[in-house]
Amino acid sequence: MPEIRPLRESDRDDILEIAKHTWGGHDYLPYSFDAWLKDKNSHTAAIEQEGHVIALANLRVIENGRTGWMEGLRVHPDYRGRGFANTLTNHVVQTAIDLRLERIRYTSATVNVESLHIGQKAGMERKFDLAVSWHADPGEIAWRSSTDPIREVASTQLHHNLVSSGLLPYNVIIYDWKALDARPDALDKIGQTARFWVQLQNGAIKSFSLGLKRDASGGPQWAFTVYASSESGFLDHLSHHVGMATENECTSMFGAFQKEFSHTFFALDWAQDEDDDEGEEFALTLLERVL
Ligand SMILES: CC(C)(COP(=O)(O)OP(=O)(O)OC[C@H]1O[C@@H](n2cnc3c(N)ncnc32)[C@H](O)[C@@H]1OP(=O)(O)O)[C@@H](O)C(=O)NCCC(=O)NCCS
Repeated sequence: MPEIRPLRESDRDDILEIAKHTWGGHDYLPYSFDAWLKDKNSHTAAIEQEGHVIALANLRVIENGRTGWMEGLRVHPDYRGRGFANTLTNHVVQTAIDLRLERIRYTSATVNVESLHIGQKAGMERKFDLAVSWHADPGEIAWRSSTDPIREVASTQLHHNLVSSGLLPYNVIIYDWKALDARPDALDKIGQTARFWVQLQNGAIKSFSLGLKRDASGGPQWAFTVYASSESGFLDHLSHHVGMATENECTSMFGAFQKEFSHTFFALDWAQDEDDDEGEEFALTLLERVL
């Protein structure tokens, strides 16, 4: 069994080397590494071979100690298929048990069969999926939709009526690739980096979205999530976020939305996924194990 130890500052070059080989170099690891080292709630785990870190993972304790968020599982391509990812995952699960957390969670792309296999082997189950889509150059999209007005709200205005809207599967908010239960403190936390918009009907929320600007390898990216109860509500929010991505001078945008609107989305001229010849839907899934 290889030795597992926390990450340290001197591992930076090894981490950048692994990131360079992950997802065509579009890995978020270089943006997370410093934050993990500083964060007392992050429990990093690394495996060394021949004097270099070749595999790593992080368990971040969130939601006041209820949840262990699993992230950053990576194995250098030269060392894959030797069980290091399983070993790290088991270690992370045991860390969560030792910390007496209530559950562990992570999100993954549904096309990432390795990730799903490793999670399910560690006793995790898929809770729900959201469709996702990535686009370069949102500023070039001329399409717009505005059936009903969209208004920006503060997190405090969502405290009591977002959950009762019934829009969120399992009352979980997905923002970027992260997830939090839609409790008031979580909404306030998400509101520190994201902005919120709603459409109302008789004072009740009938559609909701959030968006945030974040760093990505190709320049700033607009990341958004839309939850709507109607097709027109979905299109109005989508259009709004195309506009926000443009206004914020983002070079790309990444959106997540309910799968029931996939057909509507991919019917839009600009949204057609040219790389997808097999018609396989690219989705995000939330995995969870209650401990
Ligand atoms: C996913 C990743 C961590 C797996 O690393 P690895 O060293 O190959 O994993 P392991 O050798 O521990 O294998 C773990 C399990 O996944 C399975 N697996 C690995 N590659 C697979 C593939 N392409 N298809 C299906 N299963 C696969 C292995 O068979 C093994 O299952 P088993 O124990 O039932 O035999 C590695 O490919 C990687 O770093 N990928 C890029 C980043 C990423 O996708 N991370 C996932 C978290 S988002």
